[in-house]
Amino acid sequence: MAITSSISRDAKSRSSILSKNVFRAETSSSNRSGRDVQRIQLHDVRRQATAQSLVPCIVDGLKSERRQSPPLLLWNDRGLSLFDAVLDSPDYYPATREWSLLHNAVRKISYSISSGDRLIELGAGNMKKTALILHTLQAQHKHVQYFACDVDRSALRRCIRELQKLFPAKSSNIKIQGLLGTYEDCAAWLKCNKSNSHTSLMWLGNSMANFTPREASEYIRSFLSSGSSMIIALDGCQDQEQIARSYEGQCNREFVLNGLPHANQLLGTNAFDINDWEFVGRWNSKLWMHESFYVARKDLALTVCGETYHFRMGETIRSIRSGKWPKMKVMEICREAGGKVMDSWMNCEETYGVYLVGKH
Ligand SMILES: C[S@@+](CC[C@H](N)C(=O)[O-])C[C@H]1O[C@@H](n2cnc3c(N)ncnc32)[C@H](O)[C@@H]1O
Repeated sequence: MAITSSISRDAKSRSSILSKNVFRAETSSSNRSGRDVQRIQLHDVRRQATAQSLVPCIVDGLKSERRQSPPLLLWNDRGLSLFDAVLDSPDYYPATREWSLLHNAVRKISYSISSGDRLIELGAGNMKKTALILHTLQAQHKHVQYFACDVDRSALRRCIRELQKLFPAKSSNIKIQGLLGTYEDCAAWLKCNKSNSHTSLMWLGNSMANFTPREASEYIRSFLSSGSSMIIALDGCQDQEQIARSYEGQCNREFVLNGLPHANQLLGTNAFDINDWEFVGRWNSKLWMHESFYVARKDLALTVCGETYHFRMGETIRSIRSGKWPKMKVMEICREAGGKVMDSWMNCEETYGVYLVGKH
């Protein structure tokens, strides 16, 4: 892969670059086969390298009274492939529910995005749903700058390349770029990259519900403060059996357990032996969230960054959470954030919703 241009890549100047609020952009094209491959404009908006930001989170999580591990450990390139298998598994109802809702409502949802807007997708993933939305915007003759924000460079590049095949830069009204970084990085980038045009943030796949209701409110507050509006897709299913089937099957097990080798890779040691851990899922009724855990198969002593952490057989480390919030709960979360649900599109059973959120 040839990097054809880049704004300063000098690591030493990184802190001064960040302090001037300039984010690195790189433009590259793949020419291995000599074919005309489109360039990818990728902005590295990370304020810290991934290992630098995640290792302290792993340590803090092991030190905390209720042990937890950063959910971001799940989202490396391999994690995204494993998540694709989750999306394809017949028991994973949120994927089919969101697809059919988007299919039915995509034209109406797209009316909330105007020509000239900047559309930023948080946690863009495989961008299959994105393609549906961008096709609709194109059919509505809108010119849109689309930015896919996600955390793994190689997965982001691969998925952008696939999307670019559908929307070639030369002939399409839709211009595609990438933002490499977390949601927080993206919020910081937005603050220093104000645009004259309106910004719409799209958060699909129930991803906002990976945070507690309080954290979700804080994210909304932060994004709305940049003057953006938000399109948020959320699962409101309350059927416990269906949730357990969907989140506790073999595909989910593999997806969650992949966090352990990723932790080892970032720590540079084999602190977590995957054979020592099992996966379990549970419903947390206080938070209206499903929670996934690593469970110690035997008594363990883990050495991480020079400290030893003891686990008795059966003790857990919490991994990812997935909230199941019906409309009333979503409205409450938005209100807490100083926002308001301006419009919403629900499936017939009212178990899945897409919400348009703006400042109150
Ligand atoms: C549940 S998947 C949803 C993917 C896609 N939007 C969809 O609807 O199929 C969550 C996506 O968010 C990304 N992600 C998770 N945590 C993130 C964070 N803190 N900042 C940025 N992206 C994140 C993951 O890499 C993944 O692509």
